[in-house]
Amino acid sequence: MLKLTGIRRSYRIGPVTTEILRGVDLEVHAGDLMSIMGPSGSGKTTLMNIVGLLDRPTSGACILDGRDVSGLRDDELSALRNRHIGFVFQSFHLLPQLTALENVCLPLVYRGAGRPEMRRHAQAILERVGMAERTGHRPDQLSGGQKQRVAIARALVGEPALLLADEPTGALDADTAGEVMALLRQLNAERGITILIITHDPSVAGQCARQTRIRDGRLFEPKAAAADGA
Ligand SMILES: Nc1ncnc2c1ncn2[C@@H]1O[C@H](COP(=O)(O)OP(=O)(O)OP(=O)(O)O)[C@@H](O)[C@H]1O
Ligand SMILES: [Mg+2]
Repeated sequence: MLKLTGIRRSYRIGPVTTEILRGVDLEVHAGDLMSIMGPSGSGKTTLMNIVGLLDRPTSGACILDGRDVSGLRDDELSALRNRHIGFVFQSFHLLPQLTALENVCLPLVYRGAGRPEMRRHAQAILERVGMAERTGHRPDQLSGGQKQRVAIARALVGEPALLLADEPTGALDADTAGEVMALLRQLNAERGITILIITHDPSVAGQCARQTRIRDGRLFEPKAAAADGA
């Protein structure tokens, strides 16, 4: 569903250019559950922003569903993103003044869906993530794990084929992290949603069928033998 070849991304600050991604090749197949690990600053979020069409590589090709996206205009990328990709962030990124239900409705608002249909849809997905009892709560009235469930519901409400999660358990205690991972695995197994998870946590990575690492600007996929500590 997604193929990256020779992806490079550098940032220029003043006269200094730093190359963060130095030729990343990655093929993601429909139904994959994949982790990306790597040291802080190694370019994980940079890569995810490119995969999620939030950012463009300095060079290299990004093919989504057989279509080269590098030549697309920003509004075309936004439309593709809204249709195909859901995002979950470490810090949740929920709008504080909106209830859980309203937060989950947001991606549908951008699609111009009708209000009753939107609310029905958002309600159903909140039930799916175990948040049926909290749909009228605002983020500050929810625990960390509950906020992350709402964020996952919001990422899923548009029925994306691809879910990108940047440290989805980073702000959670071990038990809550376990619940969120169980939910993501279930969504992958039952709905066939393709999921890419950035994590620092080896136990999170260990639950993914494909495990990759970023080092020195490149992506490696150690042979799937076992969870290694290297
Ligand atoms: N907009 C930007 N302008 C300049 N440099 C940037 C920008 N965004 C990221 N960088 C640099 O790129 C490098 C990689 O950043 P990135 O956020 O991808 O790291 P990461 O692997 O996600 O780290 P972490 O695990 O801490 O989240 C960092 O050195 C950072 O300073
Ligand atoms: Mg990051």
